[in-house]
Amino acid sequence: MGGHHLPQAEARPAEHRRGVNAVASPGARGAAARLSVAPMMAWTDRHFRRFVRELTREATLYTEMVTTGALEHGDVDRHLAFDPLERPLVLQLGGDDPAALARCAALAERRGFLEVNLNVGCPSDRVQRGRFGACLMAEPAVVADAVRAMRAACSLPVTVKHRLGIDDLDDDEHLGRFVDALVAAGVDGVIVHARKAWLSGLSPKANRSVPPLQPERVLALKRERPWLRVELNGGVRDLGTALAWSRSVDGVMIGRAAYEDPWLLASVDARVFGRPGPAAHREQALRRYLPYVEERLAGGAPLSAITRHLLGLFNGRPGARAFRRVISERSHRPGAGPEVLEAALAAVPEHVRREPPDASEPAPSDVAPLVHSPA
Ligand SMILES: Cc1cc2nc3c(=O)[nH]c(=O)nc-3n(C[C@H](O)[C@H](O)[C@H](O)COP(=O)(O)O)c2cc1C
Repeated sequence: MGGHHLPQAEARPAEHRRGVNAVASPGARGAAARLSVAPMMAWTDRHFRRFVRELTREATLYTEMVTTGALEHGDVDRHLAFDPLERPLVLQLGGDDPAALARCAALAERRGFLEVNLNVGCPSDRVQRGRFGACLMAEPAVVADAVRAMRAACSLPVTVKHRLGIDDLDDDEHLGRFVDALVAAGVDGVIVHARKAWLSGLSPKANRSVPPLQPERVLALKRERPWLRVELNGGVRDLGTALAWSRSVDGVMIGRAAYEDPWLLASVDARVFGRPGPAAHREQALRRYLPYVEERLAGGAPLSAITRHLLGLFNGRPGARAFRRVISERSHRPGAGPEVLEAALAAVPEHVRREPPDASEPAPSDVAPLVHSPA
């Protein structure tokens, strides 16, 4: 694995403290490069995150976006409850009112999150009606006020996840102005989804594939601000690609691929952080998850709310379809329990159930030419 280990991964606890940007020398990458699983509504809920922990201990995880309204007027436990094993875990907030965001950031700290992230990337109509998400890219001063207020209200690092631009506000000049406003407000890092969003005419789903990816613009942002923690998100389908990008930015965030093919996360600890990962094979990961499943069932969770996140475990492997079918057909039945997962496993050939994580060297064949940050 040699030179592909992310440097200084041993220092990980420090990355969750503040001041990384302030203390890092120009060209340094902060305390540690990071590999994270993106916040995804309805996907990265606590059940999925807890399963991910059977695959990787080192990847940083994010909650789904939680709006300030949901936290201030809704069921806080439902939105914020998590298993301590899920850490390092970042709470992603949605909102535009600095005072409300500040209160929620303080709540995040009391609840044991290690970092707070503000969503400035979501283009859904609902989010736009609330005047937050991606449309805030047009209002750098509002986002800066929010960052300032959140930082003042807690001692957690505060980061922003955003796009390259929206609609016609899409050039590097605007992007730079936006990021520099956040820097002036003390932001601890940015995660950039490397495409713009169209606020009207495209569904959120189409906004994740139609606007072209432009990762080179994220690399340029990092090159011009070597002291700023910049993480890249968008279109990363495998670890080799993530490792290749991580030479030029401070972290790589993987979204859909990590959900649709979670087993790719089983090699993160070894390939990215140089430590053994928790799972020797898929069957072991699933069996170790069963006590959690029983615990949540006893707490009243429906089995299907948990098992739906496991459908991709054998993605692309013999038996995948049978595995999914057993889960889909049997999880809804009254009284269904962990035996459904045992039956689903039994539908997969043993040699597939016992396959080790992919240990291959990175093959960054489909990565655009790398632009190295200053050494
Ligand atoms: C089902 C789904 C839900 C998402 N929900 C959120 C969200 O709550 N907050 C957010 O910042 N991004 C959200 N995203 C966007 C992802 O975090 C990520 O930026 C995007 O999928 C691009 O990364 P990828 O190409 O690796 O998937 C969501 C994406 C998907 C597919």
